[in-house]
Amino acid sequence: MATGIPKKKKSSKNSIIELKYDIKINKEDLLQSHYSCYTDIWRTQDNAFNKLFYGDNLDVLLYLLNNGYKNTVNLIYIDPPYSTSSVFVNREQKVAYHDTLDGYDYIEFLRRRFLIMYDLLSQTGSFYIHLDERMVFPIKIILDEIFGVCNFRAFITRKKCSPKNSTRTTYGDISDYILFYSKTKNYVWNRPYVAWSNEKIIEQYPCIDEATGRRYKKVPIHAPGVRNGDTGKPWRGMMPPLGKHWQYTPEKLDMLDAAGEIAWSKNGNPRRKVFFDGKQGIPMQNIWLDYQDFVNQSQISTGYPTEKNIEMLKTIISASSNKGDIVLDCFAGSGTTLSAAELLERRWIGVDNSQESIQTIISRLLFEEQSYGDYVIKRRSNSCSRKLTKCAFQIFAIEKDKNNIISYCNLNK
Ligand SMILES: C[S@@+](CC[C@H](N)C(=O)[O-])C[C@H]1O[C@@H](n2cnc3c(N)ncnc32)[C@H](O)[C@@H]1O
Repeated sequence: MATGIPKKKKSSKNSIIELKYDIKINKEDLLQSHYSCYTDIWRTQDNAFNKLFYGDNLDVLLYLLNNGYKNTVNLIYIDPPYSTSSVFVNREQKVAYHDTLDGYDYIEFLRRRFLIMYDLLSQTGSFYIHLDERMVFPIKIILDEIFGVCNFRAFITRKKCSPKNSTRTTYGDISDYILFYSKTKNYVWNRPYVAWSNEKIIEQYPCIDEATGRRYKKVPIHAPGVRNGDTGKPWRGMMPPLGKHWQYTPEKLDMLDAAGEIAWSKNGNPRRKVFFDGKQGIPMQNIWLDYQDFVNQSQISTGYPTEKNIEMLKTIISASSNKGDIVLDCFAGSGTTLSAAELLERRWIGVDNSQESIQTIISRLLFEEQSYGDYVIKRRSNSCSRKLTKCAFQIFAIEKDKNNIISYCNLNK
């Protein structure tokens, strides 16, 4: 693998790439927009912090911004419609939501929401968005404009399903993408690790140190770039390879060798020994293979379309927030983010404008879920055999929707 030599970046006007289109609104004008007043229409208990809003998220985000939530949200994960030109139905064949916006209408729909989410985020907050190949590229440009390229953290590729045989004329489509930004460079980051398996340890640390029996791997002791100081000087009569310098001074290399931490090849080439020594795990990389959405009937699911893998949400929430932090998902769907936040003892705010979504979330949070095979979540009834959970939250809506949502979700019963 070739590694380039880093050079100091000169920022110039030309290094900022902008998307220009007619309907692109000014942030100042957006923030002046009218928004509705939301009231709590139902609660599991008084004074619960967690909030589930029924309404259009642009309206709700403006409401939150103007009602004490500016700079308070620690983590946002959203999984919006992907511009698929489709209508999504749940397993009961009820329409859950429409995904019909395209082109600049789609981009501007999201951009307006991003601008407000940015203001809601705390200074150490992070933002994740899940998309597929249709819109991830223009949305990356828009997010770079809002967060700044310097706050772009990762472009994650997720394996979303098992290989498909149906695609005959191109490669099978088994991936989608998550963009990760932070508001500033001082963001919460609890580095996630994947546990070592025995095979992985043997693959990655194939050598055994004769003196100590410890497993190790060999890594180069030079790095790209020419240096004039000590690290550019000969060590044991050897110069670093062309265009490279030693990673350590000759003095430090002597110390490493004396401590048995340099492996010499038959041809006399030195390498550093990096010992396994029960390392914590493999730091997680930006290709995620273990978080497919539902693959078999024994998995737990709500039956809401496009429900994401809860283990993936647990990873994101653990990495980018701490206990007690506020997690927001304003395209909440079946409530995967809210459920994961609840399990990890974060506070949460969820928003969706689909009655099916709100009904699913309430059911999911109040009762333990059923397996995919028995996915149908019946309305709550006294005969429901599922166990009640202790989740405490309030539901918010605007006055004119109050009775609809109460009766749709069977809340008085
Ligand atoms: C892809 S689904 C989210 C699925 C979710 N991540 C899960 O695990 O279940 C997108 C959701 O966004 C909601 N949505 C779309 N436009 C919205 C809007 N303007 N305001 C609020 N919710 C919206 C839809 O109703 C739908 O539930």
